[in-house]
Amino acid sequence: MTAEYRHVPVMLAEVLSELDPQPGEVTCDCTLGGAGHTVELARRVAPDGLSIGIDQDDMALAAATERLEREVPEAETLLLKGNFGDLDELLVEAEVPGVDCFLFDLGVSSPQLDIPERGFSYHEDAPLDMRMNSGNHTLTAAEVVNTYNEADLTRILRVYGDERHAARIARRIVERRAKAPIETTLQLVDVIKAAIPAAARRSGGHPARRAFQALRIEVNHELDVLDRGLRAAVRWANPGGRICVISYHSLEDRIVKHVFSELSQGCTCPPDLPVCVCGHVPIVDVRTRKPLVASDEEVAANPRSRSALMRVAVRIDAPAEGKGLS
Ligand SMILES: C[S@@+](CC[C@H](N)C(=O)[O-])C[C@H]1O[C@@H](n2cnc3c(N)ncnc32)[C@H](O)[C@@H]1O
Repeated sequence: MTAEYRHVPVMLAEVLSELDPQPGEVTCDCTLGGAGHTVELARRVAPDGLSIGIDQDDMALAAATERLEREVPEAETLLLKGNFGDLDELLVEAEVPGVDCFLFDLGVSSPQLDIPERGFSYHEDAPLDMRMNSGNHTLTAAEVVNTYNEADLTRILRVYGDERHAARIARRIVERRAKAPIETTLQLVDVIKAAIPAAARRSGGHPARRAFQALRIEVNHELDVLDRGLRAAVRWANPGGRICVISYHSLEDRIVKHVFSELSQGCTCPPDLPVCVCGHVPIVDVRTRKPLVASDEEVAANPRSRSALMRVAVRIDAPAEGKGLS
């Protein structure tokens, strides 16, 4: 681990047990971060296997490159910059016919949260950015806060942040920005604190936590890319290939559950139809009816693991072309 990139991999033992990487296999970590999981995946598939790592964050890619070279020099690795929402294009670039183990460890890494300039932290003042891929000229949190209308702000705060005081916060944001744009994290924290009732300010963690989470999800289109990335992973998985997803909030987990459940469905035609017209063929076997969670020991040692929800599916032998895929 480099001094700048300190992130403890969550549910590592469970990831290795569920993915069960074998020598010579191809693994793809779609959220490489500091390679906390990939370093162990690479160790197990080396020297003949390939470990692909994808991240949209330059800092993560630099830290992971350095760590993999240092800790598993015998492993063949391929690190790609990009968004797992574009997994099809990235795997075409990787020139692999299929993948045996996919991992998605969603959200932000500890360093992304800890470096104030990234604008994810509500503890330190910094420009309101929150882009995981900060090199891109894409939407920033400041643009969301200063340009979205009150109804859209309310919806985002309520749906992505589960924020009870969404309407009050949205109203206060619109009033405040009419005087001057809200440009920094602490300016936004002040607006949020002023918007919510005093009692709520004193309970339930930092008053800006939910709103910051909501903005991060909006800025990085986190839910859309998850649906796309998961479906692509299922398409690219070899027969018997394992797909493991660790989510950190219920909206993400709901998407994982929905995609796995949809792709595990067989024919849904009424029983009295003589032939199948729906075309549904199960293409994954869901291994986790309920999500797995971190052990008490891990939660005590790494509080970030408290909210982790892990789901696993296994690709069934390829069905006839195109069936069941969307
Ligand atoms: C929780 S961290 C992963 C940590 C990693 N498993 C480890 O133990 O070191 C999530 C990482 O995924 C990246 N990420 C999140 N969403 C992404 C996306 N849609 N496409 C590519 N990378 C993404 C973030 O930049 C971050 O580095």
